[in-house]
Amino acid sequence: MLPKIDFTSTQAFSYLANHYIDINEKNLKELFEDDPARFEKFSLYLNDILFDYSKNRINEETMALLIQLAKECKLEEAIAAMFDGEKINETEGRQVLHTALRNKSGKPVLVDGQDVMPQIQAVLDRMKSFTERILSGSWKGYTGREITDVVNIGIGGSDLGPVMVTEGLKAYKTRLNVHFVSNVDGTHIAETLNKLDPETTLFLIASKTFTTQETMANAHSAKAWFISTGAQEGDVAKHFAALSTNEQGVAAFGIDTQNMFEFWDWVGGRYSLWSAIGLSISLAVGYDNFEALLTGAYEADEHFRNTPFEENIPVVMALLGIWYNNFFDAESQAILPYDQYLHRFAAYFQQGDMESNGKYVDRNGMRVDYQTGPIIWGEPGTNGQHAFYQLIHQGTKLIPCDFIAPAISHNAIGNHHQLLLSNFFAQTEALMNGKSEEEVVAELQKAGKSTSEIERLTPFKVFEGNRPTNSILLKEVTPKSLGTLIALYEHKIFAQGIIWNIFSFDQWGVELGKQLANKILPELEDGKEVESHDSSTNGLINQYKSWRS
Ligand code: F6P
Repeated sequence: MLPKIDFTSTQAFSYLANHYIDINEKNLKELFEDDPARFEKFSLYLNDILFDYSKNRINEETMALLIQLAKECKLEEAIAAMFDGEKINETEGRQVLHTALRNKSGKPVLVDGQDVMPQIQAVLDRMKSFTERILSGSWKGYTGREITDVVNIGIGGSDLGPVMVTEGLKAYKTRLNVHFVSNVDGTHIAETLNKLDPETTLFLIASKTFTTQETMANAHSAKAWFISTGAQEGDVAKHFAALSTNEQGVAAFGIDTQNMFEFWDWVGGRYSLWSAIGLSISLAVGYDNFEALLTGAYEADEHFRNTPFEENIPVVMALLGIWYNNFFDAESQAILPYDQYLHRFAAYFQQGDMESNGKYVDRNGMRVDYQTGPIIWGEPGTNGQHAFYQLIHQGTKLIPCDFIAPAISHNAIGNHHQLLLSNFFAQTEALMNGKSEEEVVAELQKAGKSTSEIERLTPFKVFEGNRPTNSILLKEVTPKSLGTLIALYEHKIFAQGIIWNIFSFDQWGVELGKQLANKILPELEDGKEVESHDSSTNGLINQYKSWRS
């Protein structure tokens, strides 16, 4: 059982509320001027990842109080409960053990008294040999040709993680072309199938439940297309595999359960890229790289589990997020990777974070009277700079940002990487320092502007600065470092959920959408006028039906 503590009633919270009044007066620029050791004090390393959090609106007292908050909320006990396999997903009565999937300690992990490590290893072994057979060409399609293309059909956690990682690790690409179909909009599957040859295509149907409407619709369409091109039902076994917890569902769909890669209900969908759901990753970048991804995540797990909070990167990330969310009233958090390969990183953690911590009911079943999970958004740099950074620099909202960049690029073309990183460093510095009135005036004088022009233009050109950022500098994006980075963010989400006293591993809000769509579907398929909803929904449905008839 998880602790059920209202964090706003802790001693640390009331100290923080007072302390906020002091800090809110202070400017980041001054904090740096006052303390030459600020970077050393407020930066941490984990292997080849540097986490610099010195450009935050904090001092040593802030961090001490935030850590006290985490302790009063019993975060240490909660971390142990998760790793030890307690049923901390209490509303679904399940353990939360994605960490077991990457457990390289050689120690058992018990679920209901049974060690799950042998079954995890057995699936990994099968993923390895399957990957090798496909890549070597010894696995043949029904006409005897090698597989050239893989289509992962899944949605949410059964799509976003594999997409993000295969894009993130494109520099490690195998000979296979890996495609992803998620949207139930027929355009997604149609446009993908247009590019493919059924004789050389392998479909992976990725669904934890094997009941998700979108995935099942796409899977059935893929199978119908495959058969329509001349293949027989018996050929499906050579071209369809399933990644699921639902053996019955897989068999009912017509996939040979020999071709099923299993995982378990103690793996949450949005935490499942480490499981059989990662088969597309293994095929896209090779099994050894998939293993390295797991190892990287394991190292983050060990760090999270064993490091004092003061030096614990995910805990510090979580506490900073809470500082802005609950004291500065920041509503969102931007994730800004300066790495084109990581272009889906923010989208991935949009689900990871928002589906986990977008909850207004606390662990006691009561409505909270404080803010929980932030809105997560972001795009890669430098594209974002030319889109939404204006608002981050001069808008009215406080947006804490995570800047992420590798020191070494996989594509060292000319001075592109230096250009990219000069922007990365310049942005966090500018967000912190801003541009003072004196600087603006001096600049305008230098440009030869008249006094009245200078007076008129100055207010628009002043930047307040004092905008907080984290900088995460990696040596290089490798399978291992990416595994570590993802797991650090996962644990940040966990730590925040514990402190906000919410359950981070269910998603009842999404389940509602699934039920409602299933109720409306039959109403779209008959010829009758719809009257069972509110006037807006009735009006929209009836117009839709009349335009289609
Ligand atoms: O979007 C809701 C959700 O339940 C996610 O948590 C999950 O990742 C996704 O649907 C897909 O579910 P499944 O893997 O069961 O098809």
